[in-house]
Amino acid sequence: MHYSFQIQNQAEYEAIYAKSIADPASFWEDIANQFLWKQKWQSVLEWNFIEPKVTWFQGATLNITENCLDRHLATHPNKPAIIFEPNNINEPSTTLTYQTLYEKVCLWANVLKHHGVKKGDRVCIYMGMTPELSIAVLACARIGAIHSVIFGGFSAQSIADRLEDSHAGYIITADGAFRGSKEIPLKTVVDEALIGIDSVKKVFIYNRTHTPVSMIKGRDFWWHDEIKIIQDLGLKDCPAEEMAAEDPLFILYTSGSTGKPKGVVHACGGYMVYATYTFVNVFHYQPHQVFFCTADIGWITGHTYIVYGPLCAGGTSMIFEGIPTYPTPSRFWQIIDKHQVNIFYTAPTAIRSLMNFGLEPLQDYDLKSLQVLGTVGEPINEEAWHWYNEHIGKKNCPVIDTWWQTETGATLISNLAFVTEGKPGWATYPLPGILPIIVDAQGIEAEIDADGNQKGNLCLKLPWPSIIRTTYNNHERCRINYFDTFKNLYFTGDGAIKNKLGQFRITGRVDDVLNISGHRLGTAEIENALNMHTGVIESAVVGYPHAIKGQGIYAFIIYNGLIDYNNLEEIEYLKQDIFQTVTKIIG
Ligand code: WT7
Repeated sequence: MHYSFQIQNQAEYEAIYAKSIADPASFWEDIANQFLWKQKWQSVLEWNFIEPKVTWFQGATLNITENCLDRHLATHPNKPAIIFEPNNINEPSTTLTYQTLYEKVCLWANVLKHHGVKKGDRVCIYMGMTPELSIAVLACARIGAIHSVIFGGFSAQSIADRLEDSHAGYIITADGAFRGSKEIPLKTVVDEALIGIDSVKKVFIYNRTHTPVSMIKGRDFWWHDEIKIIQDLGLKDCPAEEMAAEDPLFILYTSGSTGKPKGVVHACGGYMVYATYTFVNVFHYQPHQVFFCTADIGWITGHTYIVYGPLCAGGTSMIFEGIPTYPTPSRFWQIIDKHQVNIFYTAPTAIRSLMNFGLEPLQDYDLKSLQVLGTVGEPINEEAWHWYNEHIGKKNCPVIDTWWQTETGATLISNLAFVTEGKPGWATYPLPGILPIIVDAQGIEAEIDADGNQKGNLCLKLPWPSIIRTTYNNHERCRINYFDTFKNLYFTGDGAIKNKLGQFRITGRVDDVLNISGHRLGTAEIENALNMHTGVIESAVVGYPHAIKGQGIYAFIIYNGLIDYNNLEEIEYLKQDIFQTVTKIIG
């Protein structure tokens, strides 16, 4: 698949950027025209940031899976869509071509249909990183069910909260997941989550680890049994449901500064357009390249740059089941050489942790296939940037620093590989259509200081196609969280610096949200969990700089009860109990 919207050089970027800001609707209309729609739109863009209400491609219909799959069958059915690298280094890797992936998605979509899953139904997915996770996601999209993927590290309580909020009727999970030397008992966690939840009618279980699990008659179904039933019925193809551009594609829960995680809702049309546009431009993706994003599909990074972006672009996307340090800290480098990975995209926290092992783990790997390196999730410190550039990229690969959020759906600020210069610690330039502004506490554009810099709160003045549409079932929460702090602006929650060249450096959250190893956690959420412990009267959580995780967590506790402060053993037990409590509540 070759889209004609790939930017080739800096002059072109500047020209396109100017045009995109002057007339966003006509700019995005040209881009959108390169996708497969069932019906075209009546209006490209309607918006106000007061209600807020943003609609893109109103009146159009589509199905994103036709753009991810069907579209490529005519041109490259036998090209690898997914390369799966298992946790166990000795287990063979597998490849799914576009043809095979299409067939598997259709089969599973038919299973869901057969069980009564309908357009608009919420399906919760709680699985490890295997191709079946992508298949489950795409099968939902195929029939218009709204998927809500929950990262496999979350607790039963976290799942229960999300099920309750989304009123999900179905869960797709696995018996277990392999992660490093551990086996995560996914189905058992789901069982625990389901105590007291009555919205869930059916649970589908993919058999990955052969962990014994309970199977409740009428509720629990094995993935392979259901596939067999559909195969025996001879149901191969599954027509793609016709979705309105503004119909929700998925919900993804994320932590904020107050209350429980909120369900960020993304819409079918705009998300497809912007995810693909950014994938092709930020990474300068070429159709033959192997793309390896190390995130989990349970986070937005995985949704956009493992599943939807690469597949809409007809690319080859790696799925890695394991962790960077198992069986050794060479694992990423070994995968890159083995699969001749061309583009590698990971988090600064992973780079810092691997840096700590020195250069020895790199010895046996030449990494010659690499052409582009990327980072995401948190500010990258210069030391890690240079190590990445020198020892992984051999100073031969552009290093892109992509700034974005669950709510933005895809990258908003980043240098573009081979197009604009990178700068250590800086996300640099806004993508076409993106108009960032730095404001002070009153919402007035920050003053330019003596060095030509503006410092303050990072906001966006214009909508882009994959902007958050609402928070599930609670639009007011969306308004208050993102559109109320500063009038007529989307507020990111991040602080930033803009220099005289128009480059941006993200300095971190300015709200009560921590970023631990690239993952967002609200201090209020952790405090609530701490306060659940029988003895905790009051708690306060603050972040502190952590050499590997970016931020670490300090919790201050007021304890109700008699403690002998000289008895260190007792205090240690208490601390462990409190840790356990938080783990039970959050994960
Ligand atoms: C927050 C969003 C974007 C997908 C992964 C995280 C921080 C993200 C960068 C970056 C500095 C970054 C911000 C943002 N962040 N990318 N390149 N440089 N900070 O998604 O969980 O929604 O978190 O991550 O603070 O607001 P998320």
